[in-house]
Amino acid sequence: MKKNYGKGDVSWFQDARFGMFIHWGLYALPARHEWIKYYEKISDADYQKYFDHFNPDMFNPKEWAKAAREAGMKYFVITAKHHEGFCLWDTKYTDYKITNTQFKRDALREIVDAFREEGLHVGLYYSLIDWHHPEFEADMAHPWNHEEIKKSGVKRDQKKYNQYMRNQVEELLTQFGKIDIIWFDFSYPQHGKGHKEWESEKLVKLIRKLQPHILIDNRLDLEGAEDFVSPEQYVPVDGMRDEKGNLLVWEGCQTFSGAWGYHRDENTWKSNKMLIEMLINHVCKGGNLLLNVGPTARGVLDCRAIDRLQAIGAWMKFHNRAIYGCTIAPENMVPPEDCRYTYNPETKRLYVHIFAWPFKALHLPGMAGKVKYAQLLNDASEIKMRDEKADIHAGLNAKSPQRALTLELPTVQPNVEVPVIELFLK
Ligand code: GLC
Repeated sequence: MKKNYGKGDVSWFQDARFGMFIHWGLYALPARHEWIKYYEKISDADYQKYFDHFNPDMFNPKEWAKAAREAGMKYFVITAKHHEGFCLWDTKYTDYKITNTQFKRDALREIVDAFREEGLHVGLYYSLIDWHHPEFEADMAHPWNHEEIKKSGVKRDQKKYNQYMRNQVEELLTQFGKIDIIWFDFSYPQHGKGHKEWESEKLVKLIRKLQPHILIDNRLDLEGAEDFVSPEQYVPVDGMRDEKGNLLVWEGCQTFSGAWGYHRDENTWKSNKMLIEMLINHVCKGGNLLLNVGPTARGVLDCRAIDRLQAIGAWMKFHNRAIYGCTIAPENMVPPEDCRYTYNPETKRLYVHIFAWPFKALHLPGMAGKVKYAQLLNDASEIKMRDEKADIHAGLNAKSPQRALTLELPTVQPNVEVPVIELFLK
């Protein structure tokens, strides 16, 4: 039996559909992956140089917030603390925090204020894993493996670490105003870090007491406590569903390139078209997209990210109503090849996203008689329609199983990355 831990408010979240993930910490300095301390087995003493040199002189979160809003994002989630343990706010529970670097400023506070000012909902990421805290019980996800720590004779008390987490979460949920999402990362019960080890239940009760409306992700390994599930680095083929096949609330988190933190030499950046299609691929399966940026150690967004955010924004400017408030299409509506459907149940409009522009005609199976009016979304120009039973020019014949609605397309694709046709259903 699933326990009832209360539920957060998903209404705004499912309307919003598109958010910005921000991974920022000391790992921006080595600039070769946020897991660098782990991958290169760097000791605390050697990692200290990044703390000592942390001084993002160009930090201006208003620019980040503006870039997010202009890309069409409606919320953001920032790493208040990532696995390295470094805290972006002026916490009283550790010295390992931004206000003790030469930079001195409470970046988290400035970031939250800036994004709120741009009208975005606020989300905080908090790492369960901590490679710096002396009481975090070391395991296979630690730069020093368990055996080494055991041999060194250092005793660690995970309970103390759990109390530290609760104290910090309490700070985060009492000192920064209304927080819309708390995003924990991550559990691995098969290797000794699950809800029991984290004392997830206590954490969730505390969270619900402090901010009952808040959304909690599904990485605390506590069944029934999550408001949404969080597939990462892939798009689920049919959305995320429960055992009975019901659609869950879900948010895919994705990177522009292979890493989350700023990674200078990682060059597998996705193209603008791929990213826009990725957004559509989330929404057409009933999900959200949380798209990640890793600001540099100067405190600015990577120019490769800025270019892409601007391209997404240019598309969103004309197509956002095919995203906001939209979800999976009614079950009997199956898009033709190279197309995706998103659907707004309130306005009863169906959006046909065309990933590969066809020649002259687009046949929508089973849609004959169901559409009042059709237009290209980018310029609201009419798209003529005809009901297709049998038409040699369309290549359909009388044996076609379902009656198609044929859209008459201009020969040349409109000058947008992914054209969308808006259908007003009867
Ligand atoms: C993975 C990575 C972590 C990143 C997270 C985002 O868990 O380990 O670095 O923060 O994905 O979902």
